[in-house]
Amino acid sequence: MRCAAFPARPSSHRGMTAFIFMTAAACLQSVSGSMMESHNPYWEQAFSQPFFDNTTKRDVTTTVGQGAYLICRVRNLGDRAVSWIRKRDLHILTVGLQTYTNDQRFQSLHSDGSDEWTLKIGSPQLRDSGTYECQVSTEPKISLSFHLSVVVSKAAILGNPELFLKSGSDINLTCQVVATPDPPSFIYWYRGPNVVNYSQRGGISVVTDKQTRTSTLLIARAQPEDSGNYTCSPSSSDPASVLVHVLNGEHPAAMQHGNSSSGATPPAAAEALLLVVCHLAWSLAFGGLARGRHPTAASLR
Ligand SMILES: *[C@@H]1O[C@H](CO)[C@@H](O)[C@H](O)[C@H]1NC(C)=O
Ligand SMILES: *[C@@H]1O[C@H](CO)[C@@H](O)[C@H](O)[C@H]1NC(C)=O
Ligand SMILES: *[C@@H]1O[C@H](CO)[C@@H](O)[C@H](O)[C@H]1NC(C)=O
Ligand SMILES: *[C@@H]1O[C@H](CO)[C@@H](O)[C@H](O)[C@H]1NC(C)=O
Ligand SMILES: *[C@@H]1O[C@H](CO)[C@@H](O)[C@H](O)[C@H]1NC(C)=O
Repeated sequence: MRCAAFPARPSSHRGMTAFIFMTAAACLQSVSGSMMESHNPYWEQAFSQPFFDNTTKRDVTTTVGQGAYLICRVRNLGDRAVSWIRKRDLHILTVGLQTYTNDQRFQSLHSDGSDEWTLKIGSPQLRDSGTYECQVSTEPKISLSFHLSVVVSKAAILGNPELFLKSGSDINLTCQVVATPDPPSFIYWYRGPNVVNYSQRGGISVVTDKQTRTSTLLIARAQPEDSGNYTCSPSSSDPASVLVHVLNGEHPAAMQHGNSSSGATPPAAAEALLLVVCHLAWSLAFGGLARGRHPTAASLR
């Protein structure tokens, strides 16, 4: 119904008042009607031009492999299409719900009745970093830029990459996740290829703090069989490893410190002996595996 198409004709003063009142009511109804359906040409110009809702996040950071979402919110879209363009090469990625590139990692997400048109980038890589544009096919077209940063997240274990401990002392490894936009959802610890198993041995505790993005693995009263390559593997980060050698208590000179090149430097000969002892203990603990592969000890003999 339109204001102009009102049928009745006023014949008296009272009739005129009623006419004006009813016309106003019809106009109001017409306005609210045009909010719902966008095909009313009379009101379209004034009320239904599409515009972007600027409140969605336009700087998005994600880690390699961790799906990213760019959310474009368009009001009054009507029957127009929303497209996603990659600015670097002006490649049209999606139009409406259709993917226009061979790269199927790009996908448009939209649910009926919603005004969000989301570009999903599955398994993003470093080269996907850059500007993306959400475009609406008005005349002239309107667009909104989004910036995606894909970063590599890494784990780091504090301290030396190789640790020498006296049997009976505690293994205390602290792993920190760096360069990650979101806290990791989990951090796993491995010894060699296996997840550190709490039930195989008592005295193991892991404290993970998502806020500081750290995880501390504590193994009480370590024994030579606790030696190994310990790996901290957070979700969506590159892992970090440390080699832990737990030495038998038979050679106290060898156990003084975990850092074989520490400040309290023993005379060169004593240090050489210390390293050979370490190597022997390591070989004993791991059979032939490590023999000849300890570069420092090997070069000393
Ligand atoms: C969105 O924000 C930009 C600048 O950040 C501004 O120029 C533009 O007018 C805004 N658009 C709307 C619809 O608010
Ligand atoms: C383990 O090491 C971390 C970092 O060096 C330290 O903050 C923590 O107190 C240590 N825990 C124990 C039980 O020694
Ligand atoms: C941990 O060790 C126990 C006992 O050997 C075993 O039953 C369990 O399956 C292991 N769990 C994992 C996750 O390896
Ligand atoms: C320790 O394990 C990790 C992960 O399996 C591996 O990448 C690394 O090379 C290992 N380090 C050593 C010294 O064997
Ligand atoms: C051993 O410790 C000293 C001082 O604590 C440090 O400067 C050095 O880098 C450490 N050695 C290794 C191999 O990390």
